[in-house]
Amino acid sequence: MPKQIKILGVMGDPVHHSLSPVMHNAALAKLGLPFIYKAFHVKPAHMKKFVKNLQSENITGFNVTIPHKETIIPFLDKLTPEAKKMGAVNTVYLKKGLWVGDNTDGFGFLLSLKSEAHFSVKNRNIVLIGAGGAARGIALAVASQHPKSLHIINRTLDKAKLLQKKIQGINKKLPVYTLSLDEISKVSWHQINLIINTTSVGLKSNEAIKIPWRQCHPETLVSDIVYTKVFTRFLRDAKKFKLKIHPGWGMLLYQGALAFEKFTGKKAPLAIMKQTLLEQLL
Ligand code: ATR
Repeated sequence: MPKQIKILGVMGDPVHHSLSPVMHNAALAKLGLPFIYKAFHVKPAHMKKFVKNLQSENITGFNVTIPHKETIIPFLDKLTPEAKKMGAVNTVYLKKGLWVGDNTDGFGFLLSLKSEAHFSVKNRNIVLIGAGGAARGIALAVASQHPKSLHIINRTLDKAKLLQKKIQGINKKLPVYTLSLDEISKVSWHQINLIINTTSVGLKSNEAIKIPWRQCHPETLVSDIVYTKVFTRFLRDAKKFKLKIHPGWGMLLYQGALAFEKFTGKKAPLAIMKQTLLEQLL
């Protein structure tokens, strides 16, 4: 391999299922940039070695996925304000000789809502289902854009309350309500503008969190961050009630596009990235 070719990639365990390599390589080829994007299968015990060898392997940037988004932090020189707020990193790049940890997940989600569904969260009532790592990134990005209210619904109520506390730390004025899944009927569903599923329900099975869809306003947008070859059951249920939907590939595309710009300093060629992703999924 010629010396000038730089290496990018996604680091995770497992990582073989990731669509990031095909998406990023299509973008790199489109712009004729001297990079190759790989999948790095790194087990937790081997993280230190991976980080130590970055420069000798000619790696100049990488994405981070499960289970390393938090444990990578002590190995980095600097965090962006987003990564600091979220306590998690999905993008690492070299800047002036320092390894910088960033998080493009939350803003990638918002960008996808805007570009793909023409939806802005400002002054809207939002329901977020789930309170795990993915929910945290989305909730913090949403909370920074002045929605009217946020409901967090989670199977384990205590985790929803922890996330509520974190959000109130960055936006004291935002009304944040927490409910367990059993209390789902307490929401005034007809007032909700956006429902986001961040739980892993629907990832491996044909199941879905049950929403009283009949009570929803006809203009409600329904989003699921799980991406599967066909629409998730959650989105199919919403479609049955003629609600608008926002599929999970959107967040994957836009978090990737934001990361691409950090890695290369070039504007991401979105059309080719989207086409490549959809070819894999549809
Ligand atoms: P991620 O980082 O991908 O968000 P996670 O941190 O494990 O993954 O979070 C998974 C989310 O899916 C959690 O909100 C989890 O609910 P709990 O906090 O109660 O564990 C939710 N989840 C997973 N399986 C679920 C199920 N069968 N029913 C309801 N919620 C579920």
